Amino acid sequence: MRPALAIARVRPNYRLRPLARKRTRMAANERPYVICHMTSSVDGRIKVRRWTTLDADDHYETIHKRLEGDAWMCGRITMQGYADSAKPLGKQPDAGQPIDREDHIACKDASGYAVALDARGAMDWGARNDIEGDHVVVVLTERVADDHLWRLRAGGQSYILAGASEVDFPLALQKLRRHFGIARLLLEGGGGINGSMLKAGVVDELSLLLVPAVDGLEGTPAVFDIEGTEDETLAKTRRLELKSCEPLDGGTVWLRYGISALE
Ligand SMILES: NC(=O)c1ccc[n+]([C@@H]2O[C@H](COP(=O)([O-])OP(=O)(O)OC[C@H]3O[C@@H](n4cnc5c(N)ncnc54)[C@H](OP(=O)(O)O)[C@@H]3O)[C@@H](O)[C@H]2O)c1
Repeated sequence: MRPALAIARVRPNYRLRPLARKRTRMAANERPYVICHMTSSVDGRIKVRRWTTLDADDHYETIHKRLEGDAWMCGRITMQGYADSAKPLGKQPDAGQPIDREDHIACKDASGYAVALDARGAMDWGARNDIEGDHVVVVLTERVADDHLWRLRAGGQSYILAGASEVDFPLALQKLRRHFGIARLLLEGGGGINGSMLKAGVVDELSLLLVPAVDGLEGTPAVFDIEGTEDETLAKTRRLELKSCEPLDGGTVWLRYGISALE
């Protein structure tokens, strides 16, 4: 039984294209093409479970498949429910021993990848190393404890280290490409990770399902959230260009925007 998450996902094997890792040559700094795929109320908020008058999951999953990602990635809060429902480890890991600070690739031929941002190693994945068949890859920083790395190894999850104490998103993405052949990544919320990655300049496209609902609650996560002062806005650094607009059943509109840097 899947955990009761804010986005209930049913994930069949959605990847329809051959993986780019089959390519023979790849530049070391090459990263995946990143599409941020989100459902939003007309006021930009994203807690779909609060909009009890509509079913927002159906279109989300349909478009998720149409976007043909090799992997999907979420922030720690969105991923927490998956980790919380993990079975505990069968045997205790080799805690207390030193461990090489290398990336750990537990599986490189999965049919899909579920990438979890967890900079400080807060999530205990136990024995769970897949979500609906997609292999779990955890993005960490160097500040995580050795014991946490041992636990991930024992649980069969992969992990990559990207940054000393702050997440180095370009590096994380390069590693996802290099180690797992991920050429097309769906960034699937929430607002915290989306805002961080947009600010880091690594989001190429927005796929927005605008649903006919008003949330209205102040402080509810939005499609992109950053911390900052009044004069800080991502609009100063990113340009959005409308690529397509498709009305869907029930009054939802699917908007696609290309995202580029503003000089
Ligand atoms: N409508 C949709 O399509 C959709 C899709 C996904 C999620 N959601 C909803 O979004 C909500 C969660 O959104 P959220 O914004 O609160 O959480 P989130 O983006 O899922 O996770 C935020 C967390 O990710 C980590 N993080 C983000 N940026 C980071 C950075 N630059 N460096 C290090 N760590 C970073 C932090 O983890 P730590 O706290 O561990 O530091 C942060 O608290 C949920 O209600 C979920 O249901 C909606």
